[in-house]
Amino acid sequence: MKISIFGLGYVGAVSLACLSRDGHQVIGVDIDRTKLDLIASGKTPVVEEGMVDLMAQVAASGRVTVTTDAQQAVRDSEISLVCVGTPSAPNGSQDQGAILRLAAELGQAIKTKAEPHVVVFRSTLVPGTVEDVLRPIVEAESGKKDGVGFFLCFQPEFLREGSSIRDYDKPPFTVVGANHDYPAARLQALFGHLPCKFLKTSVRSAEMMKYCCNNFHALKITFANETARLCEALGVDPFEVMDLVCQDTQLNISRAYLKPGFAFGGSCLPKDLRATSYLAKVHDVEVPMLSAILPSNRQHLDLALHKIMATGKRRIAFVGLSFKTGTDDLRESPLVTLAEQLIGKGCQLSIYDPEVHLAKLLGANKSFIERHLPHIGQMLRPTMEEVVDGADVVVLGINSAEVIDAVARRCTAGQTVLDLVKLTDRSPWQAAVQGLAW
Ligand SMILES: NC(=O)c1ccc[n+]([C@@H]2O[C@H](COP(=O)([O-])OP(=O)(O)OC[C@H]3O[C@@H](n4cnc5c(N)ncnc54)[C@H](O)[C@@H]3O)[C@@H](O)[C@H]2O)c1
Repeated sequence: MKISIFGLGYVGAVSLACLSRDGHQVIGVDIDRTKLDLIASGKTPVVEEGMVDLMAQVAASGRVTVTTDAQQAVRDSEISLVCVGTPSAPNGSQDQGAILRLAAELGQAIKTKAEPHVVVFRSTLVPGTVEDVLRPIVEAESGKKDGVGFFLCFQPEFLREGSSIRDYDKPPFTVVGANHDYPAARLQALFGHLPCKFLKTSVRSAEMMKYCCNNFHALKITFANETARLCEALGVDPFEVMDLVCQDTQLNISRAYLKPGFAFGGSCLPKDLRATSYLAKVHDVEVPMLSAILPSNRQHLDLALHKIMATGKRRIAFVGLSFKTGTDDLRESPLVTLAEQLIGKGCQLSIYDPEVHLAKLLGANKSFIERHLPHIGQMLRPTMEEVVDGADVVVLGINSAEVIDAVARRCTAGQTVLDLVKLTDRSPWQAAVQGLAW
């Protein structure tokens, strides 16, 4: 394929070297003449393992040319990969100066090109940038429409400095955000041979997932480092601890707990997080990330409260009360806290949970609910129908297909349902279903 690459920093230079190594004709474009001269003479503009030899090899192959002329690069290629920098502005926002200028240049180049050109943004871009910011610029400058006269798409880059050639050849996956099949097919032709999944998605999801990946990596590092600080203070070996933690591939290093939902609760997570924060305080160890988890969880609960209050309705039915479907454990259930808050705001509550029977509650579970919802006896009903009928808002906090089916059939068009479990299918519902954060 004939490819132009805009921006020859770490991402662009490594892509140029690897794509030309794989037999493609590559035109490198940068505003920095020094980088272009280095590449033209077979030298690497970035310090990266393997790049010295690879650049010498690909320059000798004759498949690499360089230019500062965007028009020429677009004219002489079928696809452009955009890898210019998107650094932080002083206020923390993304400085899009380089990519905005380049979008205008690409638009002008596309204006004079007969064949539909494919532009693949590979720079990390805040969600919405391609569709709401860059597309209007390219359309205005070219006088053509995305999907007709040219194709824009977004493909996040996952290589890491220091191992970038190896990462190029073995990425975790290829993700392509595209609104049309043609650019995705061109990228499949370029990257489909790599030993990983090729995933096509929406442009916005592709933009957002890149941030999620980096945030998750930062979160993991900070988790290990906060754990190490606390371990040191306690005389525990942090490497041994984290190694053991990583050996659980069922709950720890897995998809478990990574699906959005309602706030967490129960008899373990909140109390153990509190104890961890306290332990850190006693030992003068700062663990700001771990200490921020419970406040963040509280924000999630407050969001549910806000959504219910925003309906303006005050007759509320709870379907589900325990902290998890299938148990009667009410200790630190976020639904109990939510109920408490709603009662405090003057709402009229009725509650149904197939697992919760007052007479059967014992010990710590019983004393918790007596402390937090002392009048639970008057609110708890033995059947779902008794709570749903006569309620304005139904808070769905139980993830049982059988119960969900029955509630869906019982709810009527005038009712609002706050979905805390992420319903898979809203079509059987006549009621107005609102998700918590979806
Ligand atoms: N560095 C990484 O490991 C990495 C990994 C994944 C994603 N990313 C993302 O990829 C993007 C590029 O990162 P980088 O580290 O390679 O950046 P970089 O700063 O090393 O290089 C950017 C290059 O773009 C050039 N440039 C600026 N304006 C230009 C224009 N109008 N035309 C042509 N070239 C222009 C600059 O001269 C520079 O050489 C960023 O959005 C970054 O967030 C980087």
